[in-house]
Parts: sequence; structure tokens; C-alpha cells
Amino acid sequence: MSTGIEKQEEAQETEQSAESAAQQRRMEDKRQRAASRDLEREAKSELDDADETRTIKVFRYDPEVKGKEEPRFDTFEVPFFKGMTVLDALIYARDHFDSTLTFRHSCRQAICGSDALFVNGKQRLGCKTQLVDLDDPVRIEPLPHQEVVKDLVVDMEHFYDQMESVEPYFDADELPDGELEEQRQSRENREKVKMSTRCIWCGACMSSCNIAAGDNQYLGPAAINKAYRFAMDEREGENMKQHRLNIIEQEHGVWRCQTQFSCTEVCPKDIPLTEHIQELKREAVKNNLKFW
Ligand code: FES
Repeated sequence: MSTGIEKQEEAQETEQSAESAAQQRRMEDKRQRAASRDLEREAKSELDDADETRTIKVFRYDPEVKGKEEPRFDTFEVPFFKGMTVLDALIYARDHFDSTLTFRHSCRQAICGSDALFVNGKQRLGCKTQLVDLDDPVRIEPLPHQEVVKDLVVDMEHFYDQMESVEPYFDADELPDGELEEQRQSRENREKVKMSTRCIWCGACMSSCNIAAGDNQYLGPAAINKAYRFAMDEREGENMKQHRLNIIEQEHGVWRCQTQFSCTEVCPKDIPLTEHIQELKREAVKNNLKFW
């Protein structure tokens, strides 16, 4: 059992450790404020030195922070350099002016598909879009027709569900003998599916599609293109091809497409999405032809 003196000592220790934690927090806050003042000073001198600057107007929204729940646009002036992309401008603004500015990016090489944005009224990849090609001020918004989580980040869950719904993987009727045997594909067939394999799951096509905007169950151009990628591959098994055609023929599948070409226009990988959808429509018709 602890004595009165021990209890007093314990209470003192707790008080001391609470005080030291608070002191560390204060020091950390101070360091962060100093760092942000340095960055602002650096940004100011870079802006003064820059031959040219560009203005970006960025959509802001944060449902979790009081006073920021109302959507608005913030304006940032950034120093311009040759080869600067929309993503570079956003990174500069975040690193020098507002560390809470939120957006997705990863590879910065148009490969990961994580920075699809609505820039000056069109779906584009931030890392692939040169500022020099855009009118000033550059207006940067999240992808339309998707729920905004915060600032430029949208919820991609529905898009991924649609991609998964076409079961995007092979199921061959028979596999080659031997573990190390390749499952060969002819050059012609590779050429046929080549463009469809370039999809980076960025969601730009889905966001541009009027049909997808009005029909939440529509598979959408990206998922149909994914189905095309496998259905047109000669290595796909007959049963799986039939199963896949059944998926894309359904009420919210290929027949919903009204050939508006918006998906094809915005695709950053130049995939002829509308053509692929039309080709699958023809496949679906052939699949249903019956001869008596
Ligand atoms: Fe990966 Fe742009 S950052 S596609």
C-alpha cells in the first residue's frame, strides 16, 4: 500500500511529465511557425526574383474544420519556370503558402493516375498538363460528378467498384503444360488490345461522362474498356468471355453509351474509349444472334 509521501511524489511526477509534454508541444509549435515563416520569406523572395509568375485559383472545402465547410476558391501566385505543370504549381502553393491544401499525387509521370483534376473546365492529369498551355488564372477543381472528400480529393470508391465489377482478370480455358511455359499471344492480337491496356484508373473519363453522371449504376467507359481489354484477348477462355459479355450487355452496360466521345477526348492516355465501347456493342449483338 502506498504511503502518503509516496502518493505525493507520484502526483508530483505526473505533474512534471504533463508539464514537460506541454513544453515540448509549445517548442514544436514554435519550430513549425518559424519554418512556415522561413518558407513564406523564401516564397516572397522567389516571387520577387521570378521573371514570370502564374496565378492559380484552387477549390477549397473541408467539412471537418469549422469555418471551412463552405466551398470557396483560394488564389495563389506562384513563380513560373519552363516545363512547370499544374501539379508543380499545386505543390509549390502547398509547400510555401498553405500546408493544409490537399490533393493526390504520386508518380508525377502520368503513370499512377492519382492526380486527375478539373483544370480550366476539362479533366486533365495535373502532372501532364503544362501551365504554359493554359489561360491565366488557372482554375483547379476536383473531378466533377464525384463526392469531394477535401479540397481536390474525391471519393474514388464507386469508380473502383465499377472497375472490379467487370472482373478484370484472366480465366483461360486451359493453361499451357509446364509451370514455366508462357501463354503466348500473337502480335496482331497484342496490337488490337494494346491501347486498352494503357488505362491508369485515373477516373477522368468517368467524370466527363454525362451518362455516368445521371446513372450511378452505369459501368462507365473505364470499366467497359477494361472488359474490352480481356474480352478481345485471344487468351481469354470461352466461358469467361461469355460471362464478361453478359456483364457488359446488362441494362447499365454498353447500351447506355450515347457515343458522345467526351471520355475519349479527356483520356490522358489517348485510349479510343468510345470505339472500344462500340466494338463491344457489336460483339454483344453477335453473341445474341441465333440461327434456326
Ligand atoms: Fe501519377 Fe500524375 S502523379 S499520374
